[in-house]
Amino acid sequence: MIYADLKGKKVLVTGSSSGIGVAAAKMFAEQGCFVGVHYFRTPQGGEKTLAEVKKISNGCLLKADLRDKKQITKMIQDFVKQAGGIDVLVNNAGSLIARQFFADATEEYFDDAFATNVKSAFLAAQAALEHLKKSKGCIVNIGSIAGHNGGAGGGGIYASAKAAVATMTIAMAKEFAPFGIRVNSVMPGLIETRFHEQFSTPERRKQVAAETPLGRNGRAEDVAKAILFLASDAAGFITGEYIAVNGGLYMRA
Ligand SMILES: NC(=O)c1ccc[n+]([C@@H]2O[C@H](COP(=O)([O-])OP(=O)(O)OC[C@H]3O[C@@H](n4cnc5c(N)ncnc54)[C@H](OP(=O)(O)O)[C@@H]3O)[C@@H](O)[C@H]2O)c1
Repeated sequence: MIYADLKGKKVLVTGSSSGIGVAAAKMFAEQGCFVGVHYFRTPQGGEKTLAEVKKISNGCLLKADLRDKKQITKMIQDFVKQAGGIDVLVNNAGSLIARQFFADATEEYFDDAFATNVKSAFLAAQAALEHLKKSKGCIVNIGSIAGHNGGAGGGGIYASAKAAVATMTIAMAKEFAPFGIRVNSVMPGLIETRFHEQFSTPERRKQVAAETPLGRNGRAEDVAKAILFLASDAAGFITGEYIAVNGGLYMRA
């Protein structure tokens, strides 16, 4: 799969030390992009991804806790300095963090879930905006099927945060369209990454695969392909839209 227009583009993929971000970083590298590989708690993951990227293209490594505005600003500045600009920002980093039910979830958990999944994408977009205006670039936010169906098993606060990502994508798309900046999102279903190794039992994952019309759970590459499409000229007239990558687990008319 080659999107010729992506060649030479400067792409920052947050959360590319694990899972979906790794697959996206590698696929952008395969298109000849300069890839910003970002990590926070998993340096070895980030280093491994960058090594893969460098086998086929070029890139750089960036560390930031994306709940922190200063670190986000620095990450964007460092990337722009090393890449010479930014064409594509993929706000992929995120986490369920823990399973907590509304009945007894802590205020700290609520704040952490929204900072990790929503505020991070807002602040990164804001920090990158002036650079994206110059490149007439685009943003791809990673939401979740949970943002549509409310999640399950103590995932309600995370689901609410991902619903906010969906709405923020539309609102940003409207605000940034006059600058030629497109903003879209991808809503993954159950994707087999560290995420579900941490937060779902093997039995639950098997059950979801059985309930999924296409008969399996997703792979990180399934999501990465949708991210690449939205970042490419093939999606040049698409903004404020999302692609659900869930094997048919959640469908709408
Ligand atoms: N897997 C699924 O089924 C699924 C479904 C729907 C949506 N999603 C979404 O897809 C995205 C990627 O998930 P994944 O499945 O690839 O999970 P993953 O394998 O656990 O990777 C999560 C990534 O996010 C980064 N991250 C987490 N908290 C961070 C923080 N505070 N600051 C900076 N980076 C942080 C991690 O970096 P470090 O490890 O370096 O800290 C890691 O690179 C997330 O937004 C997730 O919510 C996943």
